[in-house]
Amino acid sequence: MAETYFITGAQGCIGSWIVKALAERGDTPLVFDRSDDDRRLSAIMEPEDLDRVRFVVGDITDAGSVLAALKESSARRVIHLAGLQVPACQADPVGGALVNVVGTLNVFEAARTIAAEKVVYASSAAVFGLSEDDSAVDETAACEPASHYGVFKRTNEGNARVYFLTHGLNSIGLRPLTVYGVNRDTGVTSDPTKAMKAAIFDVPFHIRFSGSTDFQYVADTAAAFIACADAPLPGAHLFNLHGETVEVRQIAEIINREADRELITFGGDPIPVATELNDAAIRRAIGNLPATPLEVGVHETMKRFAELRDDVRLDTSDIEVELRLHGR
Ligand SMILES: NC(=O)c1ccc[n+]([C@@H]2O[C@H](COP(=O)([O-])OP(=O)(O)OC[C@H]3O[C@@H](n4cnc5c(N)ncnc54)[C@H](O)[C@@H]3O)[C@@H](O)[C@H]2O)c1
Repeated sequence: MAETYFITGAQGCIGSWIVKALAERGDTPLVFDRSDDDRRLSAIMEPEDLDRVRFVVGDITDAGSVLAALKESSARRVIHLAGLQVPACQADPVGGALVNVVGTLNVFEAARTIAAEKVVYASSAAVFGLSEDDSAVDETAACEPASHYGVFKRTNEGNARVYFLTHGLNSIGLRPLTVYGVNRDTGVTSDPTKAMKAAIFDVPFHIRFSGSTDFQYVADTAAAFIACADAPLPGAHLFNLHGETVEVRQIAEIINREADRELITFGGDPIPVATELNDAAIRRAIGNLPATPLEVGVHETMKRFAELRDDVRLDTSDIEVELRLHGR
């Protein structure tokens, strides 16, 4: 039986890949997003799959619209991704809290009102802050976020636990780190993906951070959200996600090799988040999840960017400055 999934923020990067995977397997994704711009979905989906998708334009800060849309959808599984990224929360902490914290409460309130089966929501590795050593952190590690964004995500994790304790609402919070792939165009850690896009135009790009980080291919991240939404796992759970932890220097080298030119440089401070996450807990609880090797993920991403470029369908607004600087 086809299932309906209510997905907030699904016009964004991770959401677009979740919608694609659900539609391809015959389920019905309902996109709840304040944006009606479906360019990310169109960039990765076949038109016949896109036809399966239902859309509601709405803001998660408006409790009434969230509840009305969820009721109307008849969905039992909620995937909550809508939110603002690190720079937006740093620039406007009050506005950031309204969307990331109050908006998340609105989604949980709506979910418990309709007695939803489960909420799977995007937390973040930013709950950890920069660790003292380089070892992979698991879910027992202390959370000392170094950004308002990380604090908001940690707050959501606490609220999710309270919704289970008070109302028995099941939830799983997932903590991705540096997600990359087609449609990753917002936030500090989107630079490696922007570098891949610049490279297929033969244009240099400077990644504005250094150090190591945990690179996670977006299709794998999407698969983890879907597997959690489908898993019969009562309670309020939190899971780290892990891909491949490498230095920024190494991903720059992979992109340069793929482009067959020295186009990508990097510099600046490391991002203030633990560099590697241990994902043993989700693998124990949910089972096998895809783990695309970094070289394969970069290759797939640049291949798709090149196809979209050749079709004159590639959105380049995120690398506008670099393209203009080099006369493209
Ligand atoms: N991309 C990553 O590397 C990463 C890492 C850790 C956590 N996360 C979290 O995962 C989630 C999805 O990330 P993403 O990269 O797809 O983000 P994104 O910025 O690409 O997409 C976010 C989506 O949320 C929508 N949105 C924002 N405010 C809204 C509001 N008030 N009401 C309704 N919709 C709203 C936007 O229109 C957008 O479509 C976010 O919560 C993010 O914090 C992402």
